[in-house]
Amino acid sequence: MMTPNDLKVSTQLDVLIDAQLIQAKVKELGIRISDDYKGKHLHLICILKGACIFLADLIRYLPIDTTLDFMAVSSYKEGQRSSGEVRIVKDLGFTIQGREVLIVEDILDTGLTLDFLSRYLWTRGPKSLNMCTLLSKRSRRTKDVAATYVGFEIPDEFVVGYGLDYAQKFRNLTTISILRKNEKSSSHWG
Ligand code: IMP
Ligand code: MG
Repeated sequence: MMTPNDLKVSTQLDVLIDAQLIQAKVKELGIRISDDYKGKHLHLICILKGACIFLADLIRYLPIDTTLDFMAVSSYKEGQRSSGEVRIVKDLGFTIQGREVLIVEDILDTGLTLDFLSRYLWTRGPKSLNMCTLLSKRSRRTKDVAATYVGFEIPDEFVVGYGLDYAQKFRNLTTISILRKNEKSSSHWG
């Protein structure tokens, strides 16, 4: 008889967006954002941890006046599906009162996180508030939230790399790749 220990989960990574394409898109977003905020002071809020790699590249394509802050929220446990509620793990370090604010996020999935964040940040009195997300899975949206700047619309697949994780792993991949799990029996008798 097979026991749980006989079940091994092997993972497979299939490249969805390669490193070159990511860089080209980040540069394109940087140019659009710089144009839109020309002559203004832009205050970026990077949502940890997933967006940190994207932010690090994006900010170097912004030859405008910027400042930077970080927030951390959690809606995911150690798995692939949302727990359905958003919690602030790290709040703003600086006031955003009267500032032109841009949220920088890795992926817009159900929309729960960005819906929560935009409502929360509006209560802090910014002059303007926009969102920039590298990825979007439009078909998964349950909240009516749209980002002004979207890098790539992607299919309903779980992706990792370029900051995105599965159980905190794979953030270091230079590509954005689809994570597939195959459950295999390691039992010689099964
Ligand atoms: P939402 O609140 O459902 O829009 O989900 C947003 C958050 O879920 C993102 O900031 C990610 O942390 C996480 N997430 C959603 N889809 C994926 C994925 O395909 N890979 C890794 N993280 C994901
Ligand atoms: Mg995230």
